[in-house]
Amino acid sequence: MNQKQIAGERAVEFIEDGMVVGLGTGSTVYFSLLALGERVKAGLQIQGIPTSEATTKLAKQLQIPLTDFAAQPVLDITIDGADAVLPDLSLIKGGGGALLREKLVASASKKMIVVADESKQVATFDHAVIPIEVVPFAWETTAERIRQLGGRTHLRCQGEQVFVTDNHNFILDTTFAEVGDVAALQQSLKLLTGVVETGLFPNLADMVIIGTTDGVHILS
Ligand code: A5P
Repeated sequence: MNQKQIAGERAVEFIEDGMVVGLGTGSTVYFSLLALGERVKAGLQIQGIPTSEATTKLAKQLQIPLTDFAAQPVLDITIDGADAVLPDLSLIKGGGGALLREKLVASASKKMIVVADESKQVATFDHAVIPIEVVPFAWETTAERIRQLGGRTHLRCQGEQVFVTDNHNFILDTTFAEVGDVAALQQSLKLLTGVVETGLFPNLADMVIIGTTDGVHILS
């Protein structure tokens, strides 16, 4: 069993009957969704809120019942992946471009469990790619504002085309030589006109399940 599968499956053990569950996005949560689908098939009663169109499609294939914020504004638990995890459980997310819905879902959840392989554990976010979702209109100006904060920006593309998020926005993959205080950087970026959301997730994860060659390692 690979590290992503070990972590992804373990997280599903925290899901109980009656819960409203945030369904993350990515190749690690993929294994959580498969395991959750099996539990639903065996009789577990839950409702999910997906964080992307890709996860919506997979959840439907697995016959996981879905709901929305109109019916369920508060979620019991969210399981999601991460691109980088600090020892204080600060995260970078958005490698798959789903960061806005991921943050909306995680911040409406009583508990966020992150699933990741060992490669995601880092000591610093310095020079790490931080995806920043921006409004397409005047994105060049928004990029310049981010550069004035010290970021090096790169417009995300998919082949020849600009990558467009599920919310019809662009992503600026951005690095900072020195990130410093993660929450402070998040706040500074959010104040820039044109920035919709950033892939910095300070103070959201309650538990990180790391899949290793010797089983799982739990950080909380
Ligand atoms: C999606 O936008 C991301 O936030 C993913 O959750 C993150 O990139 C982790 O993905 P993997 O589990 O595929 O590495």
